[in-house]
Amino acid sequence: MNNNRYSLYENTTVSHGDAPPAECASALSRQECVTALAEIQSWPGYSPTPLHALPGMARAAGIGELLYKDESGRFGLGSFKALGGAYAVYRYLVRELIARGVDAPVSAAELMAGKHASVLSTLTVVGATDGNHGRAVAWGAQMFGCACVIFIHTTVSSAREAAIASYGATVVRVDGNYDDSVERARVDARAHGWQVVSDTSYLGYEEVPREVMSGYTVMVDEILGALPDARPPTHVFVQGGVGGLAAAVCAPLWWKYGASRPRLIIVEPENAACLYASAVAGRQVHIEGSLETVMAGLSCGEPSLVAWPLLRAGTHFFMHLDDDAALVAMRRLAAGEAGDVPIVGGESGVAGLAGLLAVCGDSEAARRLGLDEHARVLVFGTEGDTDAELYTRIVGESGDQVRGRQ
Ligand SMILES: Cc1ncc(COP(=O)(O)O)c(C=O)c1O
Repeated sequence: MNNNRYSLYENTTVSHGDAPPAECASALSRQECVTALAEIQSWPGYSPTPLHALPGMARAAGIGELLYKDESGRFGLGSFKALGGAYAVYRYLVRELIARGVDAPVSAAELMAGKHASVLSTLTVVGATDGNHGRAVAWGAQMFGCACVIFIHTTVSSAREAAIASYGATVVRVDGNYDDSVERARVDARAHGWQVVSDTSYLGYEEVPREVMSGYTVMVDEILGALPDARPPTHVFVQGGVGGLAAAVCAPLWWKYGASRPRLIIVEPENAACLYASAVAGRQVHIEGSLETVMAGLSCGEPSLVAWPLLRAGTHFFMHLDDDAALVAMRRLAAGEAGDVPIVGGESGVAGLAGLLAVCGDSEAARRLGLDEHARVLVFGTEGDTDAELYTRIVGESGDQVRGRQ
């Protein structure tokens, strides 16, 4: 019996082709992803994040296997976003240097060694965030030596604000929701000649978000290299904010497995389910309101323009669920069910897992999705305790305490 409130929408327009349809080509390119992988793997501190098997939780959910990609340790930033925002900052700076006469290629190592410091210090990147993306952009700007301004909205916690500022960025709080901060970043960037590094794409702004998504695909490459016995997953549950993450998961799995790719299920908070609403409407829609949810990273009202066509074609089910489902999933992960390794998963980071648990608690829904003892399910744990205080309040012990029991 499942006590969480959720809603499931089957995408009857999903493509069963052996490659993403042509209209999705603008989302991601294989070559761009190969380039991103080589670049990010060269950065100091790079190492693949763990892919945990959780047999105890799989048993409890009534499925064969559960694999959890744990991004909580990614580059010491606490979330997968380090892969996207920082990579896009690097790519922008390289473009600027080349435009100013520097010979390509320009390596990240050169930038970090201060080779072009006098030019880089005159450049500013700007972003809007509910926490993790801003932290990634600020980290990248500090690492490569340019200035950074990050806009946050009303409900972004002060702990997340402080984390961004700790990388030397100027943080500006904007009245309103996430979409208002995106708009403010765009307007201020135009006024000051700054470069927007956004994880979401809108009309006339596609190149940078595509680079952000290319960076995210590093996770999938690592998973494909680490899958036990190389058998593909049957299902993937991934959380959706603007959909950039889900697109970066969808495309490489499609490239790899063709028509026998896993079923893709996108999970969103019920108050910010813009991908779900777009799927139901059959077109990209903008939802209004406070978008208030404990899953702060998923508090988005409009899908990313470049991600949406791929998600429309590539997603089998869209679902949204209540905040409580995420809190329950955080506690179960931290406890380490039936001998599973205890894992620190943050509010937004566990949404995919929470979606899986909600569906598995409802036998009719589980049957509809084919979630049975043969299912091998992959979920993305996209953040750890990125707001340490909030994490402790929710779980009843700190992230460090949970890690101490690993
Ligand atoms: C921890 C976490 N998971 C998932 C997402 C969703 O990513 P996207 O907005 O690309 O859908 C975010 C976005 O900020 C996030 O912070």
